[in-house]
Amino acid sequence: MQSALYLAVLSLLAGQTIAAKAPDWRSRSIYQVFTDRFARTDGSTTHPCDVKNNIYCGGTWKGIENKLDYIKNMGFTAIWISPITAQVDGAYHGYYQTDLYNVNSHFGTAADLKSLSTALHSRGMYLMVDVVPNHMGWAGCHDTVDYSHFSVLNSPSYYHTYCELNDMRNQTEVEQCWLGGNCDITMPDLNTTHPTVISSLQSWIRALVSNYTIDGLRIDSVKNVHPTFFPPFCAAAGVFCMGEVSEGLANYTYPYQQYMDSVLDYPLSYAITRVFQRKSNMADLVVNLAACTQDENAGCRDATLLGTFFENHDNARFASATKDVSLVRNALAFAVLSDGIPIVYQGQEQHFDGGDDPGCREAVWLSGFDTSAPLYRHVAYLNQIRNHVAAREGGYLGYWTRVLNYTEDTIQLRKDVIRTVLTNQGEKARSGTLKTKGMEFAKGAAVVDVLTCGKYTAGNDGEVDVKMEKGYPVVLVPEVTLKGSGMCGQS
Ligand SMILES: *[C@@H]1O[C@H](CO)[C@@H](O)[C@H](O)[C@H]1NC(C)=O
Ligand SMILES: *[C@@H]1O[C@H](CO)[C@@H](O)[C@H](O)[C@H]1NC(C)=O
Ligand SMILES: *[C@@H]1O[C@H](CO)[C@@H](O)[C@H](O)[C@H]1NC(C)=O
Ligand SMILES: *[C@@H]1O[C@H](CO)[C@@H](O)[C@H](O)[C@H]1NC(C)=O
Ligand SMILES: *[C@@H]1O[C@H](CO)[C@@H](O)[C@H](O)[C@H]1NC(C)=O
Repeated sequence: MQSALYLAVLSLLAGQTIAAKAPDWRSRSIYQVFTDRFARTDGSTTHPCDVKNNIYCGGTWKGIENKLDYIKNMGFTAIWISPITAQVDGAYHGYYQTDLYNVNSHFGTAADLKSLSTALHSRGMYLMVDVVPNHMGWAGCHDTVDYSHFSVLNSPSYYHTYCELNDMRNQTEVEQCWLGGNCDITMPDLNTTHPTVISSLQSWIRALVSNYTIDGLRIDSVKNVHPTFFPPFCAAAGVFCMGEVSEGLANYTYPYQQYMDSVLDYPLSYAITRVFQRKSNMADLVVNLAACTQDENAGCRDATLLGTFFENHDNARFASATKDVSLVRNALAFAVLSDGIPIVYQGQEQHFDGGDDPGCREAVWLSGFDTSAPLYRHVAYLNQIRNHVAAREGGYLGYWTRVLNYTEDTIQLRKDVIRTVLTNQGEKARSGTLKTKGMEFAKGAAVVDVLTCGKYTAGNDGEVDVKMEKGYPVVLVPEVTLKGSGMCGQS
């Protein structure tokens, strides 16, 4: 034990980390960086970026490195960055790769990426890289692809024959037909059951992880790849794998966790959006919260490894539908303190309100990296309490969220020591007092709402009368658990 720790410390000092696996990721909190739109090397906070133009705006790995404290001071312990491979012209998002063995020069050099990785590790943070095993990119019609142009896998025999993806319910089509398909861009679809494709992609990912000391992978377009491809691919990578299965049906998405450590929790993300953005009934959240943990047939392997989020670079932002800050505060409290690994997409902390892709890809630098923004502070408090309790002895990370009580618009939850009261009444909600139900605090215990530092004393029934204001969320812990957290005056 001691020597393992010693080795870990030594390798950290050498700028290397031991390959991070699922248990190392469970306590992490991820900030999703869309590389072209986070920070520029020149540190500009005015360089224009019109999302509608769909062109490079100039974000770089050096830019990210220079702004790591903005991310770390919000309590994040990992970042996920856009794909790093070389691309067809203009592919600022990184999903149209042409050369697996070269980096996207718009984002910087290989040395810049290594430097970012080292800078993260020296802060105790992890690097997650987005990878795309499903397809390459080609700027032209499908019948004009010159396969010899690709650095490896440069013959048509490694690709599926072109077909248009029409029927999303036909899994064979979903896996074998091509994404894209106009003549601006096509995505030659790798035959990921072909032995040479399998071995080439394994050699590639092994080298990529090693070259840049990557701690985890976000895998793109997972549902478009035959699932048996993934176990040996992730084994070759040797690090944590989280897959994108962009589908809201629990019984479609969760079974992919049989093939890799984690999937992005799309089913829950849609429920969070319905309940907190569109004010649907809390019962919706209750059902979806239980989908992974309580339904043995759902195919979920481990709820504590799912990626919990409700915004990303592909979908309209929460605030595109409502600027009610109370609603988004509740949604964030739910997502960050839920059972999975929280993922916050860059710009959420600045209350960005872009619509569907490409609208949701605003440049963060235009916010001036304002660390006094209300949601920046809010996310920081949420991460701080999660990081604190996750590091304590006890079962926080392994404790599945329990629903204590709910009405149409208000829910009380408990995950180990943290009890939350969430509501979708919005900022116009009447202020008042709510008598909790099922909190089970010790009789007479001092209880703190870590979002306001408001103090309560638990009654003989273990409940408290919490102050509800402006429909804001309440996050309660026994005061004694805050020792050493630096929160609410508890040094
Ligand atoms: C699914 O798609 C494949 C390939 O196009 C086709 O051969 C098959 O008949 C389809 N299955 C159904 C049920 O439509
Ligand atoms: C993928 O490659 C394998 C091995 O060459 C081949 O047997 C299979 O038919 C290919 N799959 C498709 C859908 O073309
Ligand atoms: C890893 O680095 C080696 C040595 O610089 C280089 O030859 C190789 O192409 C790199 N591979 C990847 C996937 O980056
Ligand atoms: C998955 O769930 C949906 C909706 O709950 C249901 O209609 C469908 O039949 C289920 N599919 C399978 C394969 O169980
Ligand atoms: C919530 O608590 C109230 C008051 O005790 C009770 O009447 C109600 O049945 C509870 N609801 C749920 C869903 O547990």
